[in-house]
Amino acid sequence: MSDLTEKDAQYVANTYSRAPIEVAYGKGSIITDRYGKECIDLGSGIAVNSFGIADEEWISAVTAQLQKVQHASNLYYTEPCVLLAEALCKRTGMKKVFFGNSGAEANECAIKTARKYAAEHKDASYYTIITLKNSFHWRTITTLAATGQDVFHQSFTPLTEGFVYADANDLEGVRKLVSENKVAGIMMECVQGEGGVHVMDESFVKGIAEICRTEDIIFIVDEVQTGNGRCGELYAYMTYGVTPDIVTTAKGLGGRLPIGACMFGEKTESVLRAGDHGSTFGGNPAAAAGALNIISRIDDALLSEVKAKGEYIVRELSGAKGVAEVTGKGLILGVKPVRPLNDVINDCFAAGLICLTAKDKVRLLPALNIPFDTLKKAVSILKEVLGRDLP
Ligand SMILES: Cc1ncc(COP(=O)(O)O)c(C=O)c1O
Repeated sequence: MSDLTEKDAQYVANTYSRAPIEVAYGKGSIITDRYGKECIDLGSGIAVNSFGIADEEWISAVTAQLQKVQHASNLYYTEPCVLLAEALCKRTGMKKVFFGNSGAEANECAIKTARKYAAEHKDASYYTIITLKNSFHWRTITTLAATGQDVFHQSFTPLTEGFVYADANDLEGVRKLVSENKVAGIMMECVQGEGGVHVMDESFVKGIAEICRTEDIIFIVDEVQTGNGRCGELYAYMTYGVTPDIVTTAKGLGGRLPIGACMFGEKTESVLRAGDHGSTFGGNPAAAAGALNIISRIDDALLSEVKAKGEYIVRELSGAKGVAEVTGKGLILGVKPVRPLNDVINDCFAAGLICLTAKDKVRLLPALNIPFDTLKKAVSILKEVLGRDLP
């Protein structure tokens, strides 16, 4: 144990099983640890560092704002928050944005909005939210209830009531739940990230959008992990040609600093009114200035690059020795190894490559702008590790 890991064990709450990597600094997609070891980073701080580490443009945008005003509270107007909301609405066609600090907060806001809409347009007994099994909408008592995985519920009951779960890609199952419950909203990820990088079928996503339209149910898409360019469009729902009533996002939007956004479409833009919701730090000027810089750089050229890099990884790894399956979209990819997952992750690290896991898969979430030569090197390390010692 090093001095740092010892102190971590002594003082930091025991909620994470950390990998043995003591991150000191980095540049782009290269992380350097406290002992000078360099690794290629295919995790991006779990899809946060959209443009890698120590990204000059983003640092300039944030520091320029830090010189002016760092926090003002939401009692007053600040330029970055307004300009970011405008940029998000113009790029998505959504109408209004609520800013918080995290994905969980964005999802809480979405759930409150769906329930309020139902209470005002039907009645307050229409409070049920349908989510999908294997989803992960996060750790607060309500977003945990939204998460369709029993394993995370244990020890924390009673959770917020009013959540039921459908099987992913089972439209008939969703229809049945709609007929059996008084439903306010349907909430889903287009690619279940933490749940093992499962991509939703086009017919399923389109079917849900249609059910929501005909039944006047709020269609919520959780783009916390899939959004902000990661799937090859600004938001993953765009790859399905649907229009959600609410889109939640965080992670890559902040690009490094915490920000969460709950975007409202036509049907939901006026549901929340003054006093209904809030966040002290939400829309913080420095975080918003950084996010505005990030959003402005996710253009068509970058999105094509994301698609091309994703296709390259899939091409290289599909059918490769030691690879049982490759799933995902753009630059959120899951690789199911034949060898034990932990051995693969540890061997990758020893060989200078940082990868994540999701259920039984190696999860790859590289920076959107990872240089092609760095990506090629990373994929060749991963390929060698996946196939190591196999006949
Ligand atoms: C799909 C999804 N929703 C919500 C969250 C929660 O985000 P945060 O940790 O910013 O609250 C996550 C985090 O990984 C996520 O992947």
